[in-house]
Amino acid sequence: MVYTIAVIRGDGIGPEIVGATVSVLLGAFPGAFEFVDVEAGLEYYRRTGKRAEEGWLEKLMEADAVLKGPLETPKEGGFKSLNLELRRELGLRVSIRPFKSIPGISPVEGLDLVLVRELLEDVYSGVEAEFPGGAFALKIVTVEGTREAASLAGEAARMREARVTILHKSTVVRKADGLWLRVARETLEGMGVEHEDMLVDTAAYVMVKEPARIRVALAQSAAGDILSDVAAGLVGSLGLAGSAMIGVRHMVFEPVHGSAPDIAGRGIANPSSMLLSASLMMQYLGQRRGDERIARAGRALEAAVLAVLRSGCRTPDLGGECSTMQFANLVHGLLTGALGKKKGEKPRRSGRSLRLR
Ligand code: NAI
Repeated sequence: MVYTIAVIRGDGIGPEIVGATVSVLLGAFPGAFEFVDVEAGLEYYRRTGKRAEEGWLEKLMEADAVLKGPLETPKEGGFKSLNLELRRELGLRVSIRPFKSIPGISPVEGLDLVLVRELLEDVYSGVEAEFPGGAFALKIVTVEGTREAASLAGEAARMREARVTILHKSTVVRKADGLWLRVARETLEGMGVEHEDMLVDTAAYVMVKEPARIRVALAQSAAGDILSDVAAGLVGSLGLAGSAMIGVRHMVFEPVHGSAPDIAGRGIANPSSMLLSASLMMQYLGQRRGDERIARAGRALEAAVLAVLRSGCRTPDLGGECSTMQFANLVHGLLTGALGKKKGEKPRRSGRSLRLR
C-alpha cells in the first residue's frame, strides 16, 4: 500500500527537519509513501502575500496523513494562526504527545508520560473581543470535546495499563472545569478505565518532583500547551518531542515545538522531534488501516532515533556537535542496515526486511 502524505515544510527550522525526515522515509522505506508538498506559513506569506497556497486545506484532507513542520504566527498580529485554522477545519480535536526520559540524555529519570490535550476549546477557542479598558477570551468547554479527549486518553491508558490523571482547576473555574471534570470522569468510567484527578498547578509540581508518577495526563488546551514544554524540558529538549493530532477523519503529525527562529538556517536543529512524529504517523496509519507492516516500520524508526542518540551523535540542543543531516543520515543508515556492520558480519537488519513492498 502506498500512503499519500501531505507535507507542510513550514517556517524557521521546519524545512530543515522536514527535509531530513522526508529523505529518511524515502530512503529507508522505498515505495511506501508518496509526498505532496503544500505551501503555507509566514515565509510563504512574505514571498506571495498569501498565508497558504490555493486549496491547501483540500490537499491536506485528501491525503492519508499530514506531516507538518512548525508554522510561525507573527506576534504583532494581522495574520490569523494557520495552526488553529488547520485544527478546526480538519476536526483535529485532540493531540497525543509522548514524553519519555532517555537514559544518559534526560535531566530526570523515569518520566514516561503520554499527554492527551484537547485542542479546539478552552481559552484557545478563538472567541475573544476587546472592550473599553480591556479584552476577554472565552474559555469554552463542551461535552463533546471533553468526551473525545477523554476517550483517547482512556485508549492510551488501556494500551499502557495505566490510569488517567484528569487535570483541571475546578476549584476556581467552577462551571467550565466542573463540566470538564464531570464528563471526563463519566467517559472513563464508561470505558472501565481507572482515573484520578489533579489540580493542574499540582500536576506541574508533581511532574518535576516525581517524574514517574503520571503516566497518562488528560489536559485542556492551554494547560496542555504549557505542560508539554515542561515535559519536553524534563526529557532534555523540545527537539525530542513529536506529536499526533487526531480527528475522526484526519491525522496531522508535527513536533511539539515552534519554528525556533534563533537557530533556523544553520543546519543544527534536532530532527528527532520530526522523525518521532513520522514514527507516530506510521504507527497510527498501521492502527487505522490494519497494516502491521507500516506500524512495525514506524517502531523501527523510533528505535533507530533512540539508538543514534545513544551512540553519541547529538545536536547542540543536547550539548553535541552533530548536524541535522549527520543525525538523519545515521538514522537512515541504521534502518537500511548500512551501519552497525563489523568486518564479515551481516547487517543487523537488512534493508529488504524493512521494505514495505
Ligand atoms: P520554539 O519552540 O520555536 O523554540 C523554543 C526553544 O527551543 C528555542 O531556543 C529553540 O531553539 C529550541 N528548539 C525548538 N525546537 C528545536 C529543535 N528541533 N532543535 C533544537 N532546538 C530546538 O518557541 P518560540 O521561539 O517561542 O516559537 C517560535 C514560533 O513558532 C512562534 O512564532 C510560534 O508562532 C511558532 N509556533 C508554532 C507551533 C506549531 O506550528 N505547531 C507551535 C509553537 C510555536
